[in-house]
Amino acid sequence: MSSADHTILVSVANITKWLFTEPEQGVFNFTEGDIVTSIAQEHGLIQRCHALVWHSQLAPWVDNATAEWTPEALSAVIVEHVTKVMEQYRGKCYAWDVVNEALDEDGTYRDSVFYRVLGEDFIKIAFRTAAKVEPGVKLYYNDYNIEKPSPKSEGVLRIVRMLQDDGIKIDGVGLQGHFVASRPPTLDEQIATINAYGALGVEVAYTELDVRQTTPVNETSLEWQANAYRDAVGACVQAEACIGVTIWDFYDPFSWVPYTFPGEGAALLWFEDFSKHPAYDAVIEAMKNGTVSPCKRRERRRAHIAARSAELQ
Ligand code: XIL
Repeated sequence: MSSADHTILVSVANITKWLFTEPEQGVFNFTEGDIVTSIAQEHGLIQRCHALVWHSQLAPWVDNATAEWTPEALSAVIVEHVTKVMEQYRGKCYAWDVVNEALDEDGTYRDSVFYRVLGEDFIKIAFRTAAKVEPGVKLYYNDYNIEKPSPKSEGVLRIVRMLQDDGIKIDGVGLQGHFVASRPPTLDEQIATINAYGALGVEVAYTELDVRQTTPVNETSLEWQANAYRDAVGACVQAEACIGVTIWDFYDPFSWVPYTFPGEGAALLWFEDFSKHPAYDAVIEAMKNGTVSPCKRRERRRAHIAARSAELQ
């Protein structure tokens, strides 16, 4: 991402998920998704669309103890879902999260109805269908805890290569970026990981960035949070493959964090009264300047010294 050109990316956080778009088989509901999408259209915002195939917030008819899918039947269900939802939003999304969170922490596949019935083919089916419905939209694999080198980030690289080896289109890796203020990935780790994805020819985006802290907050945790935001945005500004950052909801009262992680919160850039977290300025600073990693700084210093000594000779 260049630090010069900024446009606004928005995302529908919930209502385009399977549970809401196809609550019963073959019954589709786009009412609320359409509302958000038309606001994005009116204001010329770039919309990331989320999420087509995901084990969570999935309609119960797809995943319940009595549904015994054959591979053929479940594959048809995926094709129908991806097709109908993408057709509805054709031409309106910059990108789609085609598959969300298919991996476990150790880099193997997560147990889900899709994986149980179809194995890794479910990923291929989803991406192949998506590319057919709208060839021009960016197709993303999206997951969390994949922002630093780990068995899970290796799993992502494996998925990208698997699709590419089969000639199936994948354009991007979405780093959800749900961080904890006291132990975020470092700037260098994030740059290294983005570069590793980028080396496979895909783009990268932070798709759901938030940095949670223990509540009530204190000065130290707010400072940790500011550093974490600065490093994530700075990594995106510096690493060639990264195209943008979306934060996961607007201001603290809308955040999913307090519900999902009791005792934690204040994960966004504005408090309940709309005053800014210190992280706000850190983000602005990183957007303007990038954040120069200690490693890059060392490299630059060496290059500078080498250039100076060449001059002096
Ligand atoms: C969260 C929403 O923010 C919550 O409102 C909802 O109750 C649960 O899902 N990874 C994702 C997002 O891809 O869709 C999730 O969003 C957060 C984790």
